[in-house]
Amino acid sequence: MVGASAGIGRALATRAVQAGADVVLVGRRQERLDDVVAQAAGGHPVVADIADADACRSLIATAVDTLGAIDALVVCSGASGFGMVRNATQEDWRSVFDINVIGPALVTAAALPHLAPGAFVGYLSSESVGRPRHGLVPYSASKAALEETIRGWRVEHPEVRFCCVCVGATLGTEFGRDLDPALAASLFRSWIAHGHMAQTMMDVEDVGEALLEVVSSALAHPGIDLQAVTLRPPGGLIDGGVESMLETLAENQPAEQA
Ligand SMILES: NC(=O)c1ccc[n+]([C@@H]2O[C@H](COP(=O)([O-])OP(=O)(O)OC[C@H]3O[C@@H](n4cnc5c(N)ncnc54)[C@H](OP(=O)(O)O)[C@@H]3O)[C@@H](O)[C@H]2O)c1
Repeated sequence: MVGASAGIGRALATRAVQAGADVVLVGRRQERLDDVVAQAAGGHPVVADIADADACRSLIATAVDTLGAIDALVVCSGASGFGMVRNATQEDWRSVFDINVIGPALVTAAALPHLAPGAFVGYLSSESVGRPRHGLVPYSASKAALEETIRGWRVEHPEVRFCCVCVGATLGTEFGRDLDPALAASLFRSWIAHGHMAQTMMDVEDVGEALLEVVSSALAHPGIDLQAVTLRPPGGLIDGGVESMLETLAENQPAEQA
């Protein structure tokens, strides 16, 4: 599992290990991966940056040495790259595409020869695809490219089950860790005004549990190609002001950041 050190990936990885799966946990921060191993009482941490092509190959080599054939590859990593598109530098664009599009493709390419028959390969995308919002344009563009790449994998490798998991707003992750508070307030105002904000947000632990059920269901039914799943919070659009939303987000920061 790529992106297992925080957020949704961490919640999924922890549950998968606790449910008895043998899981390789990939992220850039060793100490966070060690925390996951301690909490889950298992798992194999592998420090790797998927923005680096060599690291994408070597993390799969390590995973194969550890696990043998791979039944499921789930890519939960992601970079948000918050900022107005007019200010995005070439480096900003490259970083978001490296982590959200190119890295997942290189990891998948390295894993292909080692996938077990009927393997499941899932990627987390975003409900912002097709509905770009202020401050997240390179992000939405990268997730659109990720989704097109998933469709391309299906064309070239119909023997593998590639799944796009579209995710809505989830509390308790590190997705906004680099978001400047002043920019956050102005972006949230604009998202509310443009009808992008749901009344409720999903809880990260709940999303991790639902995702484990998705992966388990796919593995239990190798005769079904589960191609797309959408997980989004129920209810209508937000009716509170931006201040109440900022409060909710602050209250739900992961403990390490609060
Ligand atoms: N949270 C939401 O509301 C939301 C909504 C829609 C879609 N999503 C999508 O869901 C996925 C998970 O989001 P999240 O909110 O759980 O994010 P998160 O809390 O920020 O976690 C991201 C994970 O990706 C890893 N990662 C980031 N860059 C990496 C790199 N270059 N190499 C290896 N690992 C890397 C991080 O670990 P290290 O920092 O240790 O490397 C971390 O484990 C992302 O694809 C995101 O776009 C999230």
